[in-house]
Amino acid sequence: MKLFKKVMAVGLASTMVLSMAACGGGSNETTAAATTAAETTTAAEAEETTKAAEEAAETTAEEVKEATGDFDASNVTVGISIYKFDDNFMTLYRNELQRYLVEDLGFKEENITIQDGKGDQAEQSNQIDNFITAGVDVLILNLVQASSAPQITDKCSAAGIPVVYINREPDVDEENRWESEGIKATYVGCDARQSGTFQGEEILETSNGGDINGDGKVSYIMIQGDPENVDAQYRTEFSVKALTDAGTEVEELFIQRGDWDQAKGQQLTQDALTQFGEDVEVVFCNNDAMALGALQAIEAAGRKVNEDIYLVGVDALTEAVQNVLDGKMTGTVFNDHIAQAKSAADIAVSFLKGEDVAPVNMVDYTKVTTENAQAVLDALK
Ligand code: BGC
Repeated sequence: MKLFKKVMAVGLASTMVLSMAACGGGSNETTAAATTAAETTTAAEAEETTKAAEEAAETTAEEVKEATGDFDASNVTVGISIYKFDDNFMTLYRNELQRYLVEDLGFKEENITIQDGKGDQAEQSNQIDNFITAGVDVLILNLVQASSAPQITDKCSAAGIPVVYINREPDVDEENRWESEGIKATYVGCDARQSGTFQGEEILETSNGGDINGDGKVSYIMIQGDPENVDAQYRTEFSVKALTDAGTEVEELFIQRGDWDQAKGQQLTQDALTQFGEDVEVVFCNNDAMALGALQAIEAAGRKVNEDIYLVGVDALTEAVQNVLDGKMTGTVFNDHIAQAKSAADIAVSFLKGEDVAPVNMVDYTKVTTENAQAVLDALK
């Protein structure tokens, strides 16, 4: 964990500025601040932050103590539902959440129940009803459909059970309602505008700024996650926005939903390459699983990443980071499942201790390029 914090420091330099900016403003201001902050980070700032991150690494035990205080987790029951177990990123997140609850916070393994929502909201709602009937002390929910949050929140609130939503963000009216009505519900996630912006910057930072064929515009294809998910919406919008904000002309050749899935990412990229051939200069994927699929299609078509096509994803799955290192992906963005799991669990404890909890709690993303890929890989192992 200590090493991990160190290598993340470079990314943190930009993201710390970002999160400070994010605290103050409404969403448009936050976005502008995000872009500016990411653009203006210098190496000196990065170094300063390295030092801060090293110091922070020393205080991990204290931080845990601060989060839990005198709280005794040994008899507390937790219900967790993940939107589907068959998701690479959510599997990393789920395992880390369980590990942190048991090893760092002292919850008993037998008191933690984790259900698979199987991508089916009706099934997941049943699981949640069962958790409520069983009287769990706290719920940590990764909804299949974030739009079901109001209904589920009301049920949990009526039963007196606090809820920590993770990864799939309910809409802002719902989050505001928790605050105005004093409902014990909150969201822990990342601001996906930031990851989209980082993807666009990774393309801008290539030798030709993404314009491989020199025709004055960047022609891209976009492989989207589940478009109901705000992560998919924002990554799609802000990756391209980073290019246009920098004055780069863009051309969208193809945009399709790949639902976060590797096989779909492969099929869609294959279709796009068949249809548009060499015109495709950039493949934006809303996550790494789909980027891994896209890479298979790119290689099968005899194309070469970083030579005649660029490819970026989000998450920093180990395989994707290795690809960045090997020059098979242009870049990815670390979707920090470790910090998100920690934050979700710590906030669950805050609820149980009767403390006030903010309705939205965001964790920063970190850019992953050839420069820090080895360090990220070592830290993730
Ligand atoms: C991740 C995806 C994941 C999705 C699940 C996103 O934040 O980047 O990999 O499939 O969450 O909701």
